[in-house]
Amino acid sequence: MVKQTLVLIKPDGVQRSISGKIITRFENSGMKIIGMKMVWVDEKLSQTHYSEHISKPFFKGLDEFIRSGPVIAIALEGVDAIRNIRRIVGSTAPGDASPGTIRGDYAHHTYEYADRKSKSIANIIHASGNDEEAKKEVSLWFDKSELHNYKRADEHIVF
Ligand code: PPS
Repeated sequence: MVKQTLVLIKPDGVQRSISGKIITRFENSGMKIIGMKMVWVDEKLSQTHYSEHISKPFFKGLDEFIRSGPVIAIALEGVDAIRNIRRIVGSTAPGDASPGTIRGDYAHHTYEYADRKSKSIANIIHASGNDEEAKKEVSLWFDKSELHNYKRADEHIVF
């Protein structure tokens, strides 16, 4: 099934100037970028995007982190895009993420380290976790007019 999903390159990824390398990985997989923009997240967007985590002890650090610099929001389309993007991105805690994944290759933080330092885990990427979250997040971050319908030149091979 062709599905849509949301990826955020978080402030650590943008500030480390690895956005191009990250975007290339998604493009190389054959999935299609259907929307992309740079956003400096405000309090309201942070609370809406992470609404299920607001009451958790790590929310303060997570909120500060996501608002510490601009993020790049990307809407992607592909076969089982939600599951496939999560495979490319790797486990949420970079210390658990396999080498070859984005988090495994570009970060190494653990939950224990972040909690001891009272800061958010710096894991470079957010990627929607399931179908319901993907629908909610794509429409939260993008107006319909910002999502584009076009063909990749290699679409007959990769799709
Ligand atoms: S998941 O895999 O994204 O669905 O993980 P989940 O556990 O549901 O989401 C937790 C999000 O909070 C971020 N975060 C932390 N979680 C736990 N402990 C600490 N200390 C912590 N700091 C930040 C975690 O990165 C998840 O956000 P995203 O943006 O999805 O990575």
